[in-house]
Amino acid sequence: MIEAPDGDGAYHPSDSDMRSRLDALRPIPRITVQAFCETAEVAAAIEAAAADRRMVKAHVRVNTGGIRAAVEHYSAAPTPNLVILESKYPPAELLLELESLADVCDPGSKVVVVGHYNDVSLYRELTRRGISEYVVAPVHLADVIAIVSQLFVAEGVEPLGRSLAFIGAKGGVGSSTIAHNVAWSISKLFASDVLLADLDLPFGTANINFDKDPAQGIAEAVFSADRLDDVFLDRLLAKCADHLTLLAAPSVLDRTYDFEPEAFSALIEAAQRGTPCVVLDVPHGWNDWTRSVLQQADEVVVVASPDLANLRNAKNLIDTLRKARPNDPPPRLVLNQVGMAKRPEIDVAEFAEPLGVEALATIAFDPHAFGTAANNGRMIAEGDAKHAAALAFGEIAHALTGRNPAKRLAKPAKGGLRAFMRRR
Ligand SMILES: Nc1ncnc2c1ncn2[C@@H]1O[C@H](COP(=O)(O)OP(=O)(O)OP(=O)(O)O)[C@@H](O)[C@H]1O
Ligand SMILES: [Mg+2]
Repeated sequence: MIEAPDGDGAYHPSDSDMRSRLDALRPIPRITVQAFCETAEVAAAIEAAAADRRMVKAHVRVNTGGIRAAVEHYSAAPTPNLVILESKYPPAELLLELESLADVCDPGSKVVVVGHYNDVSLYRELTRRGISEYVVAPVHLADVIAIVSQLFVAEGVEPLGRSLAFIGAKGGVGSSTIAHNVAWSISKLFASDVLLADLDLPFGTANINFDKDPAQGIAEAVFSADRLDDVFLDRLLAKCADHLTLLAAPSVLDRTYDFEPEAFSALIEAAQRGTPCVVLDVPHGWNDWTRSVLQQADEVVVVASPDLANLRNAKNLIDTLRKARPNDPPPRLVLNQVGMAKRPEIDVAEFAEPLGVEALATIAFDPHAFGTAANNGRMIAEGDAKHAAALAFGEIAHALTGRNPAKRLAKPAKGGLRAFMRRR
């Protein structure tokens, strides 16, 4: 529990006190933070923190209305990386109010409560139930940044970003197209930042698919791995949408690209420190470096078309990755370009059976929709949000991020925040 230093509750830090506290804090990554406040003072402190240079990359929104307003809001909207809730309720009522939050709050979101009761047993009960921090008002902007920093940048905290690697079982099966559309869907559906890295340096198409042609990108990051830090990485990113940035491939052949096994490790680690979701578009191939990227990713998606060569390759990939990642669930399978006219195809269930996995999604062959989207530098959902492929990309986005597709506000809370904590 963090409490105001003065016994009278008033918090009047001197300029030098504040400066030295702020100096000790590191920049905050690209997280989304939403606050629901009951007093103007707490709202002002959070607004002031958001305006600090350390938080320029974070997306902060401050709302009025406390826990009830938050529950109502999140019954229909995705929860951000961090929710800050102010409540003037005494401990028993506060705990009761928070119960209803468990049903609408995504397990991946962190929750901080700003209360008005300096009560250690309340603090213990809240942390037991999965609340990340309890702070006693009044709070100062440096407190706000310190809390965010403690939750997302401090040494020992688990890396912020999940990495999702996509690879095709054969060339040209649509692995990149699916990676790009899923990255876009995650950023849109959850209003949460996504970094898309195009690892196909000679032939990558993310620049074409998003109609972006940045002068710098992934090549600078990989070939300058020794000086890669957050500031340098930021300069290489091209913005594709509100919450989507791209580390584009050069897509030129003026040199060859033979990488050491760990060539991408520093880059992926830096990306994961700064962004909640990192999508890796891995080219079809099997080298030391592709194996290492796939072995280390949080999730691997194998994209395949329903023919025999794809089946053989998908089985080899999934079996090999299963062995290389014995403590993780197997890679996901997405079948793409299904139903191509006149092509003999293996049935989806028959394709999945020998792999020992279920297909996460099956996407039909639709050259008109995919060709038009690629030519216009747009995603499928931008052309038609109701297109079956757009809906499939949404489902893949939910499955890979572990987000609940539907909110359940109408249901009474069952296990309250304890259930919330268990789900973490
Ligand atoms: N479901 C689909 N229906 C029709 N065309 C598709 C579909 N999915 C992808 N495509 C098209 O297939 C082509 C190859 O797609 P993409 O470049 O994404 O494949 P890839 O697996 O990444 O290939 P590479 O092996 O070169 O990395 C593109 O022209 C793309 O628009
Ligand atoms: Mg590709």
